[in-house]
Amino acid sequence: MERTFVMVKPDGFKRGLVGEIISRFERKGLVLAEGKVMTVSRELAERHYSEHREKPFFGELVDFITSGPVFAMVWEGPDAVKNARSIIGKTNPADAAPGTIRGDFGLVVDYNVVHGSDSPESAEREIGLFFGNN
Ligand code: CMP
Repeated sequence: MERTFVMVKPDGFKRGLVGEIISRFERKGLVLAEGKVMTVSRELAERHYSEHREKPFFGELVDFITSGPVFAMVWEGPDAVKNARSIIGKTNPADAAPGTIRGDFGLVVDYNVVHGSDSPESAEREIGLFFGNN
């Protein structure tokens, strides 16, 4: 059984979308293994997004993700990473299909509502960062 890391970002949390987002993953058949409200520290944000360190948007990304509460989750199921990414939709909400979370609730790439791991390796790394390795 595969695991993936999903986080409702500060924009989604502030807009009251946590329940809607959990419901979409549950309807698909994935199983919620962990979930918590938290505020991301700058250190955790920089480690989580370390692959984007050299990108021009890195500073704003860290400012945004640390700006308010998020809801961090671990979801389990067959092909959990791919299935979660298909529920979430493309990174830029303008390209994300209607019916996906970003397609239905997002407008711009900076505030795209939710994060999902992009590979099983990233998922295990991100779960370790947010929940420890147990
Ligand atoms: P996420 O899946 O959390 O991973 C990296 C995030 O960087 C991405 O979602 C976007 O919210 C954010 N981001 C901001 N600007 C850009 C950009 N120009 N291209 C890609 N991602 C961006």
